[in-house]
Amino acid sequence: MSTSHNIHNLLEELKTLLGPKGWRMPADAPGYFIDARDRFRGNGSLIVLPSSTEQVSQVVQSCGRAKIGIVPFGGGTGGVAGHIEILDRPSITLSLERMNQIRSIDIANDSITVEAGCILETVQKTANLNERRFGLSIASQGSCLIGGNLATNAGGIQVLRYGNARDMCLGLEAVMADGSILNDLNPLRKDNTGYDLRHLLIGSEGTLGIITAAALKLSPQPDEAATVMAAVHSPGGALSLLHIIRNHMGDTVTAFELMSRLGVDLATRHFDELRDPFDTPHQWYVVMEIEGSADTRSKLETILQMAFDQEILRDAVLAQSDQQSRLLWRLREHAYEYNTREGAICSSDTAVPLSRIQDFVDTVLANIGDLDPRLRVNIYGHVGDGNIHVNVFGPDGSSKPSFLATHPDLQQSLRMIINEVTRDCQGSISAEHGIGRLKKSDLQIFADPTKLAIMLQIKQALDPDGILNPGALL
Ligand code: LAC
Ligand code: ZN
Repeated sequence: MSTSHNIHNLLEELKTLLGPKGWRMPADAPGYFIDARDRFRGNGSLIVLPSSTEQVSQVVQSCGRAKIGIVPFGGGTGGVAGHIEILDRPSITLSLERMNQIRSIDIANDSITVEAGCILETVQKTANLNERRFGLSIASQGSCLIGGNLATNAGGIQVLRYGNARDMCLGLEAVMADGSILNDLNPLRKDNTGYDLRHLLIGSEGTLGIITAAALKLSPQPDEAATVMAAVHSPGGALSLLHIIRNHMGDTVTAFELMSRLGVDLATRHFDELRDPFDTPHQWYVVMEIEGSADTRSKLETILQMAFDQEILRDAVLAQSDQQSRLLWRLREHAYEYNTREGAICSSDTAVPLSRIQDFVDTVLANIGDLDPRLRVNIYGHVGDGNIHVNVFGPDGSSKPSFLATHPDLQQSLRMIINEVTRDCQGSISAEHGIGRLKKSDLQIFADPTKLAIMLQIKQALDPDGILNPGALL
């Protein structure tokens, strides 16, 4: 498709178009090609850093004429290589990082309009300064960009209350494959004027268009918050607890996260400042955030006592300060980091209906135990919305590379075990991380064939030359 001649000409054209601040050579910026979990090395011919929607459009037009692929890049925190070219072929990495303006904030409309390169935490802080809340919260919020959050429909720990990224998006601006600019940025809560292109682009992982700006929904700030870590009997018991709290306190549960005994052990092993807050060990825990009116804490204490009397709750710690709250949350939020440090050989991103959670956990643990009883499994995650992460490790003390070298088929077997149980539980093999380049073959096996066929038709219609994030998703 491409020749060395047209890639050379394209690079010169892009450099001239964007000026000295608008591009970098991959050799000078290897960070754009590093996989956080170190599963492969990526590559690219040039990194471009456009500073406006018009520049993004011009880049897309130039790449379209040369028929060279564009890989959109946000904060580089994705877990499925949606943002990294892993094949050895010419490509342009298009980073949105310079498009980082808050364009406007409209308090009366409870909305904020931001460019795709805004860091998620900046959007949250801007909302807070205006006494509002932006509801998306994920572990990488200090470095991920809102454009990437929308392109992947990020989830995180507050989905229970605020929904996924798509539920917080009122409008979008995007550059399409022919360079045209889609202006669907009006911050509206109702708009039935034909196909909803915004929701087609959200979660499309940069394969249908490049998101350049978004109008986002804001919410009121709560008056009082409570962080609780609770010990429960089982994942199903965690959901019984959630049920009681929601029955009595309605929509005040902002986050409700499952942890396992192994998770607490890994957190305290890999982070010196973290402690198990309980006197005795338990097998399962929940870390939760309850936020509402000024009597939230006292109401919650009454309900926790009720759950204790009903033997749903084994024990609970209610944070007494912001510092204690932060430490409890770190036990959960550092999971990605301590799983990686411990040498996870497999990590899933499963969603199942809440009514199937216990069945999913029991069956996965039994099947992994049958495969090799020495394996250690950390089951944790967003239990309140049904999204569980299963992380698997070799025997205590083993090194990941040498264990994998002696068990070459293990990773594939583990993936299939988890994916098959997921399917049997009517679940999703990728709840919040997307498909990227790493889960494409899984998607082919587990997606509905009609869905796959329609996805291909949409891709063909919107990007006939396949220049937008080639190799991702499909
Ligand atoms: C988490 C990431 C891995 O929930 O999704 O920790
Ligand atoms: Zn997660």
